[in-house]
Amino acid sequence: MANVTFTSPKLSRDVTVYAVAGARGTLLELAKEHKVPIPFDCQDGECGSCLVEVSILSKTPRAISLTEKEKEVLKQIGKISTVEVANAEVNDMPPHYRLACQYIVRDEDIIVKFEGDESTP
Ligand code: FES
Repeated sequence: MANVTFTSPKLSRDVTVYAVAGARGTLLELAKEHKVPIPFDCQDGECGSCLVEVSILSKTPRAISLTEKEKEVLKQIGKISTVEVANAEVNDMPPHYRLACQYIVRDEDIIVKFEGDESTP
């Protein structure tokens, strides 16, 4: 069981939801299921609309792997460096910024921040 806490200026208060262990949905799907208004457009890792900042609370992070599309878009919008990509791939250090439509929720507690500005990025 994982606690996923969404925080944003767009929410009147933080929203914590429970992701069922073993479910392999995306963060965006989880947000939509709970009516958390993370902006999105393509839902396919190409537009960058669903940018979120993720803090993983467990000591051994699991949701580290980035899809190729996610890497490319995050680089294009300046939200990930080459060093951060290498750290994710080699040292299992999760990057701060992610695309909610590409992020697979794992069995770990996370805090997800988003701006909620439809024009971002
Ligand atoms: Fe387009 Fe996630 S909705 S990248």
